[in-house]
Amino acid sequence: MDQAKELRNLINKGQNLNLKNNLNSRVITISSGKGGVGKSSFSVNLAIYLASLKKRVLIIDADFGLANIEVLLGIRPKYNFYSMIKGEKNISEIVTETDYNIKFISGGNGLRELSTINSAEIRYFIEQFEYLDKIADIIIIDTGAGIAPSVTSFLMASDENIIVTTPEPTSFTDAYTLIKIIKEQNKNIDKINVVINKADDKYEADRTIAKISYVCSKFLGVNVKNIGHIPLDTASIKAIKQQRPAILSFPESDYSRAIKSIGDVLLDKSPVDNNTGIKSFMQKLVHIFNR
Ligand SMILES: Nc1ncnc2c1ncn2[C@@H]1O[C@H](COP(=O)(O)OP(=O)(O)O)[C@@H](O)[C@H]1O
Ligand SMILES: [Mg+2]
Repeated sequence: MDQAKELRNLINKGQNLNLKNNLNSRVITISSGKGGVGKSSFSVNLAIYLASLKKRVLIIDADFGLANIEVLLGIRPKYNFYSMIKGEKNISEIVTETDYNIKFISGGNGLRELSTINSAEIRYFIEQFEYLDKIADIIIIDTGAGIAPSVTSFLMASDENIIVTTPEPTSFTDAYTLIKIIKEQNKNIDKINVVINKADDKYEADRTIAKISYVCSKFLGVNVKNIGHIPLDTASIKAIKQQRPAILSFPESDYSRAIKSIGDVLLDKSPVDNNTGIKSFMQKLVHIFNR
């Protein structure tokens, strides 16, 4: 079958999907300056907690190549964004159900392919995302660590960001550098959510937040919002070894309680009606990638 015909077939398939609910999803991008800070475990446990509160949650693994989330969720999806960009699958076919009542999409090898497709294909690609706006209330995107465009462009395209850092100086200075780069590329960003993970105690978490807030406000004019801290807790490590998310295997641990509290903060501040949604996110992302 030629490619154009294949695309038309896929578009038709998409139109036949019987979907209700016109609200956009709330897209939350989770990033860090440095790797190993606990970003993927946080994303997964947060997602499962939000799902337990009857939210329809989807996680997108955009930490290209590493596939952390798949390991944490114990799944091996057959398809990813690449299958969709190539026109082999439509978006509903790249969504994987998990045992934890959350849905998952693998980013695959990255969105580099997006720069190799033509504008009609890009339009088709973006249109597909409307499906996700219909099946998910909340979409959590776990990006890679660092300051590469594959991280910063996701942060810039997103309405809502969470930067995870530990109290280690190398981790929070990298978080600062990441925030600085986002601010340089998008002057409109004036607020960023930060989670301190692996803190010895509340005192250490507060001190770390105070330092980041100070430099971000003084040098970048960015207001850092502390949405909670997560203590250093072996429950997180044990859960990963058991391959069952901490929020389920150790629900009463300090780690899980902290995640729940952050989830509650996020839901409390949710302005449900003004989410711009994942389709709009993808539009912005593609624009950033191609400029
Ligand atoms: N609060 C915590 N306390 C103790 N260990 C943690 C905590 N959060 C994460 N970890 C551990 O840190 C390691 C890296 O976590 P991961 O989520 O893969 O990080 P990232 O996605 O940022 O690279 C894992 O072994 C995880 O169990
Ligand atoms: Mg990770």
